[in-house]
Amino acid sequence: MSIKTITITGAAGQIGYQLAFRIASGQLLGQEEKINLKLLEIPAALDALNGVAMELDDCAFPCLETITATDNASVAFQDCDYAFLVGAKPRGPGMERSDLLLGNAEIFSAQGKAINAYANRNIKVLVVGNPANTNALIAMSNAPEISPNSFTAMMRLDHNRALAQLAAKTDAHVTDIKKLTIWGNHSTMQYPDIYHATVNDQKVINLISLDWIKNTFIPSVQQRGAQIIKLRGLSSAASAASAAMDHVRDWVFGTADNNWISMAIPSDGSYGISEGIIYSFPVICTNGSYEIVQALEINEFSEICLKASEAELLEERKAIEHLL
Ligand code: NAD
Ligand code: LMR
Repeated sequence: MSIKTITITGAAGQIGYQLAFRIASGQLLGQEEKINLKLLEIPAALDALNGVAMELDDCAFPCLETITATDNASVAFQDCDYAFLVGAKPRGPGMERSDLLLGNAEIFSAQGKAINAYANRNIKVLVVGNPANTNALIAMSNAPEISPNSFTAMMRLDHNRALAQLAAKTDAHVTDIKKLTIWGNHSTMQYPDIYHATVNDQKVINLISLDWIKNTFIPSVQQRGAQIIKLRGLSSAASAASAAMDHVRDWVFGTADNNWISMAIPSDGSYGISEGIIYSFPVICTNGSYEIVQALEINEFSEICLKASEAELLEERKAIEHLL
């Protein structure tokens, strides 16, 4: 039996508070894997973080070996095998996620450097803090000794939202839907693509009108985060933590047969998307690695949407070039 070190940043925040307990209870790696949990916060949130650590103790989780609560990144990332980079400001009503870029960017350059210096060389990093794709690019660029393939950003919440909406529309269960893709940026320019998706092995495009897809489904997935902020007064948290679990679990244990998931990863030029940005592609995971699903037919409408998301990420990149 081995022990894995898992780091959560922003662990006293909304998402961190969900994630820490789910991970410590064994829901990420299974009951057989022991966990050293490292929780990172800013100094002002250390009291709250120590409260979270006390509650984790009080759960008496069998697979939780140690808890470290700290405001020191070098301590938090020492020997880290899996990092959930959540700590960052969330947006409020009326904001776009990109409005957070300059405020949050420095966090990810500092944490990239700490990962480079202290983490396990085979670390897997999931960036959740917004704007997630460009924050992941900043962290990756500041960790030159770690493979770029270790850095990913979260599109799984968008993927799960799209599954739920398609399932409701087709009177099916979310598990009946396969081969859905969210391309691009975790922003309103993301492209939820149903052209390859199936429901119980039938093509979605043969079951649902294109009018509903283009005018209801796509905008509603793109704007789901803002809709939740409007209703809750706070951004999504439990669903975000759940998606983070799904993302890393599939990365570690593999995706289901005959299906794929959406992950934002360093672009390798596939589908004509520029290298040097973190872009969401359809991926299949096996043996702890991901591979982009290749040779999907991209129609004219999809091509326009893929390019629009790419253009937005290139613009975001320009704004933080000094940190790369
Ligand atoms: P929150 O404000 O409740 O918690 C964020 C926590 O991060 C706070 O406790 C804060 O003290 C901490 N923090 C700030 N700077 C830090 C640093 N340098 N090091 C460590 N911790 C730091 O916010 P939340 O609701 O948990 O959301 C966190 C982030 O996740 C936001 O940027 C939000 O927009 C984003 N988010 C992304 C997705 C996604 O799908 N990618 C989904 C939901 C939320
Ligand atoms: C989401 O998609 O719910 C998060 O990115 C939070 C947000 O700002 O919308």
